[in-house]
Amino acid sequence: MVENGTTILSSVVASQMETHAKYGGVVPELASREHLRAIVPAVRLALEQSGKTHLDAIAVTQGPGLIGSLLVGITYAKALAFARNIPLIAVNHIEGHIYAVESQNAVELPALALIVSGGHTHLYEVNAEHRYRLLGKTRDDAAGEAFDKVAKLLGFGYPGGPVIDKLAPYGNPDAVKFTLAKMKGNTLDFSFSGIKTAVLRWVEARDMSAEITARRASGAVSVEQWLAVTPRATLDLVASFQRTVIDELLRRAARSAEEIDASSIIISGGVACNAGLQAAAKLRRLPCPVYFPASGLATDNAAMIAAAAFPKLERGEFAGWDLKAQANLALA
Ligand code: KG4
Ligand code: ZN
Repeated sequence: MVENGTTILSSVVASQMETHAKYGGVVPELASREHLRAIVPAVRLALEQSGKTHLDAIAVTQGPGLIGSLLVGITYAKALAFARNIPLIAVNHIEGHIYAVESQNAVELPALALIVSGGHTHLYEVNAEHRYRLLGKTRDDAAGEAFDKVAKLLGFGYPGGPVIDKLAPYGNPDAVKFTLAKMKGNTLDFSFSGIKTAVLRWVEARDMSAEITARRASGAVSVEQWLAVTPRATLDLVASFQRTVIDELLRRAARSAEEIDASSIIISGGVACNAGLQAAAKLRRLPCPVYFPASGLATDNAAMIAAAAFPKLERGEFAGWDLKAQANLALA
C-alpha cells in the first residue's frame, strides 16, 4: 500500500525462495502455485498493516515475468478492482524497479537507469519527460543469473548472489584475472556467459569436486559456516568474480550516463543489494550522483509497482478488463 506515490504504508513480501532452493532455481509451475497460495493472505496483511480501508486504485505487474505468476496477479487484481469499483493500473516490472529508487529519492532527470536482476541487465535513458530509451542490455545471462549460476556451480546453493556478496570481502579480488570478450556492435551491451564459463574451467582445472560436494552437504547458512567450508583459493575466486562483474556494470553505467549527459544514475533490481557494488559506486568517480533502492525495495516487491502506478493514476491511464499478461513485455 503506497500513498502519494512515495509513502509506503505497508509492504508485504511472500518469499518462495525456500520452495525453489530445493531445486537449485525457480520452477515455474511451483512459482504460480505458490503465488496462488500466497496472494490472498499477502494482500489482506498489506491492507491490515496500512491501517486504511479506502483504496484509489489497484496496480498490478503486466510483465515481463513468468506467465503463470503474472496471470495469478492479474486475475486477482481484476477481481479486486471490479469488486471495489476502482481503476486497475498495469505496470511494467522494470518500471517498478526504477520507481523503487525514484519514489524514495529526489532523482534529477535525465537519468541513466541500470536494472540488474535475475532476469535483466539493462541500461535505459529516463528522459526529462520520463520516457525510456534502451541503451544496452545483456546478450546472454543477466548479472543476477551469472551470480546464481556461479554460486550453484561452486556449491553455495540458490539464490547464490547474496552468498557471493557476503564472502567476497574475505578473498583477494585481484587473484584471478578474467579476460572479457570485446563487444562488437553496441558497446553498451553486456555479456556474462564468458565469465561463468571461465569460472567453470577454473574449477575443472583444479578438481574441486570434493570441496564442492562437502559444501553442498554442509547445510551452511551463516557467513561463518560458509567460511568454514570454503578454502582461501575459492574465496579469491569468488572475490575476483564479483569484482569483475561490478567493474563491467559500473563501467558501462558511467559511459552511458556520459553519453546521454545524465544528471543522475539509478541502479536497481536484486543485484543492486550487492554491498560490493554499492561500495564501488561510491569509490568510483562517476559523472553524477548514484541512487540505490532502500533496503527491502531492491529485490522484487509490490511497493515499487504501486509507486510506479501513481503517474498513470494522475493521467487516468487505466487498464481494461481485457488486460493480458505479457511474459516478454518491453519497457522500451
Ligand atoms: O529483482 P529480483 O528480486 O528478481 C528478478 O526480477 O530477477 O532479483 C533477484 C536476483 C537473483 O539473481 C539474486 O541472486 C540477485 O538478484 N541478488 C544478488 C544479491 N541479492 C540478490 N546478487 C548479488 N548480490 C546480492 N547481494
Ligand atoms: Zn525484478
